[in-house]
Amino acid sequence: MKASIMGGSGYVGGELLRLLARHPQTEIQSISSQRYAGEPVYRVHPNLRGLTSLKFQKENLESTRDSDVVFTALPHGKTMTIVPQLLEMGSKVIDLAADYRLKNPETYERYYSRKHVNPELLARATYGLPELHRDSIRKSNLVATPGCMATAATLGLAPIVASDMISSPTIVVDTKIGSSGAGSTPSTASHHSERSEGVRPYKPAGHRHIAEIEQELNSVGGSQIKIAFTPHAVNMVRGILATSHCFVKPGTEKKDVWKAYRAKYEKEPFVRMVSDGIGLYGLPNPKAVIGTNYCDIGFETDPHTQRLVVFTAIDNLTKGAAGQAVQCYNIMNGLNETTGLDTTALHP
Ligand SMILES: NC(=O)c1ccc[n+]([C@@H]2O[C@H](COP(=O)([O-])OP(=O)(O)OC[C@H]3O[C@@H](n4cnc5c(N)ncnc54)[C@H](OP(=O)(O)O)[C@@H]3O)[C@@H](O)[C@H]2O)c1
Repeated sequence: MKASIMGGSGYVGGELLRLLARHPQTEIQSISSQRYAGEPVYRVHPNLRGLTSLKFQKENLESTRDSDVVFTALPHGKTMTIVPQLLEMGSKVIDLAADYRLKNPETYERYYSRKHVNPELLARATYGLPELHRDSIRKSNLVATPGCMATAATLGLAPIVASDMISSPTIVVDTKIGSSGAGSTPSTASHHSERSEGVRPYKPAGHRHIAEIEQELNSVGGSQIKIAFTPHAVNMVRGILATSHCFVKPGTEKKDVWKAYRAKYEKEPFVRMVSDGIGLYGLPNPKAVIGTNYCDIGFETDPHTQRLVVFTAIDNLTKGAAGQAVQCYNIMNGLNETTGLDTTALHP
């Protein structure tokens, strides 16, 4: 397979290259960057020194011609116009930005404050969450991979919502995210002396990922799920922990929750249930998934408040972005779904 990466100098582009450079069925045809055109990729991604002799090329659609798949790891708004041209040139596209995730153009406009210029493509695009849309991904030539925090929240909640266990359609989702979630462009918020050693809530209401989490959860459950979502910037580089609070029907027991997760995820290669509650590692912790495509899920029931609390841990750049994109790439091309994704996190 020939693959190209647009937006290769960013954190997601670098993670795509880390995974694809060792993917046994893939030759990387081109990797683009405006700022670093002509430079070897290891100047920007030092972990790749010796792994590839690729150089960045200026952003140019022609350099992707003949690629079986083009990964677009560019800012949202930008991929909106590029994706239709890539499809016309005959490549399959995996878009890692937000422009093709939402089905409803009005919802897109409300959350992204801009009109969608290709609303007709939204119906054709597949939401790239394999655990929910594997069959559609297989047949699709345009896959939009989910937002990182949306991946964590949706994977944790989908089996619960689908099982008709909850008593209130409003679910509170609290996430903690590392600094790479904001991309590689520096800002005051990412400055070491501001970010380090702090826990900063941001966008406490109205975060963009709400739109896709609600879209996906309402597609698996019949009710009108509402997500009350608040993220926090914490002192990690990679990683997300999503803590979701659902209110459940009286009589809901742990065994019902286990049954729901087993039914949905028993055969999933990248979902691990981490819910024995024993010792230090009895519930998910992002540290145990960093650099991998795993999504660790755990839960506890709280009869005192009729609450079910669900914990989901992922690496925002891997299962939250590039790893998930490679998983979709494998599915779209009839390859073993885990190809190129066989990595283990470090410990300690
Ligand atoms: N970071 C995450 O955890 C994460 C997770 C899921 C999805 N995503 C999405 O993935 C995409 C890439 O994210 P990222 O974190 O890799 O961002 P990033 O580090 O800021 O990289 C953005 C890339 O886009 C290129 N680019 C081209 N035109 C640009 C423009 N007009 N403005 C800014 N950059 C431009 C940049 O390189 P040159 O300027 O050199 O061309 C760079 O390679 C975004 O849509 C993001 O929302 C990110």
